[in-house]
Amino acid sequence: MKIVLGADHGGFELKEDIKAFLIDSKYEVVDVGCSSTDSVDYPDFAEKGVTQIINGSCGLGILICGTGIGMSITANRHPEIRAANCHSEYTAKMSREHNNANVLCLGARVIDRELALTIVRIWLKSEFAGGRHQRRVEKFSG
Ligand code: RB5
Repeated sequence: MKIVLGADHGGFELKEDIKAFLIDSKYEVVDVGCSSTDSVDYPDFAEKGVTQIINGSCGLGILICGTGIGMSITANRHPEIRAANCHSEYTAKMSREHNNANVLCLGARVIDRELALTIVRIWLKSEFAGGRHQRRVEKFSG
C-alpha cells in the first residue's frame, strides 16, 4: 500500500525523517511536499495529501505541521477522510482500531522525533476492529 506524506514548514524535517523510515521499512511513499523549511500554508499540503487518498493513488496518509491541528482540521473537511491527530502510542493504536483513521496527523512541535516514529510504526501495524466500530464510523461517513 502506498502512503502519502505531506507537511508544512513546521513539519518538514519530521516528514523527511518519517520518509526515510518508511522507505527503509519497504513502504512505497508519495511525498507531496513541502520541500524546505521556507514558510508555506498547511491547507495547501493537506489538500495535496488527501487528494492522493480520495483519488485512490494512496491508501493511507501522514500529514505533519507544527501542532497537527491545522492538518487535521483541513483534511477532515472531506467525507472520505478520517484524520486523527495523535500524540501517543495509545491514541495512534485507537485511531486505527476504533476510528479506522486513514490519515495520521502529527505535531512536530508537540512530540519528539523518536515518539513520532514510534507512533507511525504502531499506526501502520494497527488494524480497524470493525463490529460496533463500523456502525459508529458509518454514522459520520459521507
Ligand atoms: C505554522 O507556524 C503553524 O501554524 C502550523 O504548522 C500548524 O501548527 C497549524 O496548525
